[in-house]
Amino acid sequence: MSQKITVAVAGAGGRMGREVVKMVLEDPELTLVAAIDTSAGPVDAGTLVGKPDTGVVVSAVLADALAASRPDVLVDFTNPKSAMPNTETALAYGVRPVVGTTGFTPEQIAELDKQCKDKGIGGLIAPNFSIGAILMMKFSAMAAKYFPNVEIIEYHGDQKLDAPSGTSIKTAEWISEARQELRQGNPNEEEVIEGARGGYYNGFRIHSVRLPGVFAQQEVVFGAFGQTLKIRHDSYDRAGYMPGVNTAIKKIMNVTGMVYGFEHFLD
Ligand SMILES: NC(=O)c1ccc[n+]([C@@H]2O[C@H](COP(=O)([O-])OP(=O)(O)OC[C@H]3O[C@@H](n4cnc5c(N)ncnc54)[C@H](O)[C@@H]3O)[C@@H](O)[C@H]2O)c1
Repeated sequence: MSQKITVAVAGAGGRMGREVVKMVLEDPELTLVAAIDTSAGPVDAGTLVGKPDTGVVVSAVLADALAASRPDVLVDFTNPKSAMPNTETALAYGVRPVVGTTGFTPEQIAELDKQCKDKGIGGLIAPNFSIGAILMMKFSAMAAKYFPNVEIIEYHGDQKLDAPSGTSIKTAEWISEARQELRQGNPNEEEVIEGARGGYYNGFRIHSVRLPGVFAQQEVVFGAFGQTLKIRHDSYDRAGYMPGVNTAIKKIMNVTGMVYGFEHFLD
């Protein structure tokens, strides 16, 4: 690549944001030009990841940072409330959003797709940047064709704000596309404790476990007469998402419209 891609990171002081800052600083094809966090500044962005003196100071106001730095790409790992306004701000400045923050509604994604196309640029919203997780979703969709009775159990740390996880919703969407419509379980079933059967999605259930000590796991359980099939993915480290974020930053330069799901960027 002849010219470096300039990158801003929103949520730079957060757990995922720090990994992104580190990844960008370590890739000679990328240049960090802005770091935004509403609660982590003002410090040199490099000090967040043990690489001081980058010359990029963490700032609090996204619009000001984008106006000053004019990056090619904004990577957003903030929170579900901030992600939509942040993404709209990026598009207003003609900056390509690569968003890992979860919690977008289909209506919001459609609206952002329109805004991307109006600007003639690309964007990505990816509930999961991990290749293993995407394979888990693909294998689940394959299995749903043969095993239509299914439940999803997802496990995350107790500080996660949205439930169910973006990955479980995406898995549920793929499963729904692959299987015949089916309302599972006993039609006379009653919940003795509200919520005991989990969240209802198109005939099946999603269960969200939130516990300290847990990072990110998901199990898709299929049941049939005399057998069960479990497809499980475990993430242990945030660094595992970074090859996906890196690929997205590079591929987004040649896309128009808002892409939903990192799987579209895999060969
Ligand atoms: N797509 C994926 O592969 C993937 C993987 C892990 C986590 N996530 C998601 O990424 C998001 C962030 O996760 P985390 O664990 O890093 O959270 P975190 O709480 O550690 O970090 C979020 C950071 O964003 C900052 N912030 C909040 N609002 C902001 C705003 N308006 N502008 C700039 N900064 C702002 C906070 O100060 C904080 O430092 C969550 O939605 C999580 O579910 C996605």
